[in-house]
Amino acid sequence: MEKILSKIEEYWPQVKESGESCRLFHGRGGRYEGLKHITVDWFSPVLYVKFYEEDLEREGQLVEKLRAKFERPIVLHKRYSNQFELFGISEEELSQVHACELGLKYELRIGVNQNHGFFLDMREGKKWVKEFLQEAPNAKVLNLFAYTCSFSVLAKSLGAAEVHNVDVSKSFLEWGRRNHHLNDQNTEGIFFHKKDVLKSLGWLAKKGPYDLVIYDPPSFQKSRFAYEKDYRKVVKQLEKLVKKGGVVASCLNTPFEKSGFIVDLYRNQLQDFEYINTLYSPEGFEEEDKENGVKICVFQRR
Ligand SMILES: C[S@@+](CC[C@H](N)C(=O)[O-])C[C@H]1O[C@@H](n2cnc3c(N)ncnc32)[C@H](O)[C@@H]1O
Repeated sequence: MEKILSKIEEYWPQVKESGESCRLFHGRGGRYEGLKHITVDWFSPVLYVKFYEEDLEREGQLVEKLRAKFERPIVLHKRYSNQFELFGISEEELSQVHACELGLKYELRIGVNQNHGFFLDMREGKKWVKEFLQEAPNAKVLNLFAYTCSFSVLAKSLGAAEVHNVDVSKSFLEWGRRNHHLNDQNTEGIFFHKKDVLKSLGWLAKKGPYDLVIYDPPSFQKSRFAYEKDYRKVVKQLEKLVKKGGVVASCLNTPFEKSGFIVDLYRNQLQDFEYINTLYSPEGFEEEDKENGVKICVFQRR
């Protein structure tokens, strides 16, 4: 318990004033014995505590200690039974809390689903996309497996000429549209394609080629995507999608593969894509081995 509090204290001075959302404690990374089932995130002004396994005594103690020490509202998410308890905040107030990253805001829906709409572990990928688009302001972007379109919001803020968001879920794409509006962006040049990526690569190629492709699939989603057999299918089509000189950010977050899995697929299937580097989860996501967390491999087409 003390380890959780002292870890949060380490980050606290820098995060408490800033609006930026982040992970404060990442037991899941395996660095802290007996705490693998606990994470704590910061979505100002809320501390979002997640337990992946039932641990009733510790749940109560942690909430109490966090409240006493940091004096912020708390959401306790019992992920093992998908129940939520709120402390010091009403449901209505919670619906006004947003994720904030690199100065942009994203709608959160805490207490509704397992996932609340925003992935904190993609921050390094976002920073990289930001740097890329700052040098290529009128870029055409393809955002595969777009979810709530956070990459699209970032790209629009940097002057991308077009962003094509692709996801099977209509409601996630509508959420993505709201995320643009939340940042006072119009959606001119922003497209929301409700499609199965695996069945639409030819169709998407006709709308391309793209300067930047973001390829961030789930590791596994029943009857939709399984990385072992499907990851390579998109890689194989990239020559049709990426402009010469264009780049791909190719992501995978299963702990069962290392970045070598992605790099080998590109080497074996594509002649003219050069491996640039790999990005990992940001500070806060302490991992025993950084390769266990998200891997974002960047390639450039020659
Ligand atoms: C890991 S999330 C993507 C996260 C997103 N890139 C972000 O950073 O917020 C996976 C998304 O893939 C979508 N999805 C899963 N299988 C799909 C498929 N075959 N075609 C299109 N979308 C799919 C899901 O609906 C979900 O929104």
